[in-house]
Amino acid sequence: MSSLEHHDTIRAVVWNDGALRLLDQRRLPLSESWLDCHSANDVATAIRDLVVRGAPAIGIAAAWGIVLAARQGVDLDAAIARLRAARPTAVNLMWALDRMRARIAAGTDAAALEHEARAIQAEDLAANRRMGELGAALIAPGAGVLTHCNTGSLATAGYGTALGVIRAGFAAGRIARVYAGETRPWLQGARLTMWELLRDRIPAKLIADSAASHLMKAGAVQWAIVGADRIAANGDTANKIGTYQIAIAARHHGVKFMVVAPSSTVDMRTATGRDIEIELRDPGELFALGGQRIVAAGAQAWNPVFDVTPHDLIDVLVTERGVVGNPDADKMRAEFGA
Ligand code: MRU
Repeated sequence: MSSLEHHDTIRAVVWNDGALRLLDQRRLPLSESWLDCHSANDVATAIRDLVVRGAPAIGIAAAWGIVLAARQGVDLDAAIARLRAARPTAVNLMWALDRMRARIAAGTDAAALEHEARAIQAEDLAANRRMGELGAALIAPGAGVLTHCNTGSLATAGYGTALGVIRAGFAAGRIARVYAGETRPWLQGARLTMWELLRDRIPAKLIADSAASHLMKAGAVQWAIVGADRIAANGDTANKIGTYQIAIAARHHGVKFMVVAPSSTVDMRTATGRDIEIELRDPGELFALGGQRIVAAGAQAWNPVFDVTPHDLIDVLVTERGVVGNPDADKMRAEFGA
């Protein structure tokens, strides 16, 4: 078994003979169960409810949702609108639907749409492998790294973005210690990233989100490596809530901050981070742990699930096209066009 196969064993979005099978991420790691989607509406609901999550994965799932709609002969504009509205922040969702819409406008049939969805999925996997190599090459041997949320195989076509760099860096002997923040309130780090790393036999330690600054002060990590949901034209980056405070702490402690995302996450039509819509979810997500209410009845909460890291806190942006150091509007335009 090559080291790549050894550290890349998970697939969460699977096209299976006319249905889309999704590994149900609400139930991991306690149960590995699959949900079958038979219509675009099923897929939109699965995206909204976080059965499938992570920016590239929801784009891929939405593309397959359009294939399902085309096979059933339902109104494709309505299917695109429904899928587009499922979640607002990750631009990969809109990007994948725009790509499917362009094929529809060119007059293609369901088989050609299936080909396009398959291409979107395959290109994402290839991009992740490339970003893994590019990102890992920046890390000096023996480093400790901190990651946030889940950016692995579960969040992508496979291998992952930030977690892909960690997979590649571990396989190359560059990364010696991995820390994952638990990522309140939905616990993507505790439930999903730790599951992926354990399964692929990459040793890692879970930390409470609030331990990040203390970890950096102790000198345990040299890099913070995160993914992205939307990167604006000036390099400002929306990612899981808590990323911004990690970037601030990293700069304070001289820890390098790396964003890893495919070019499908770059949105040159959004000028700055201020223009990115931040998803607000049900405050109820903050009131319970493991299904058990822990907050006094009558309490209120504010639950933004993404934040924006200003571009000047980002040391490197890694996409499949290459590495951009200290991204700003000029460098973004040079790399990604207008
Ligand atoms: O709410 P989620 O779990 O969909 O948020 C996911 C993230 O914020 C990830 O860091 C991002 O989508 C990149 S995944 C490769």
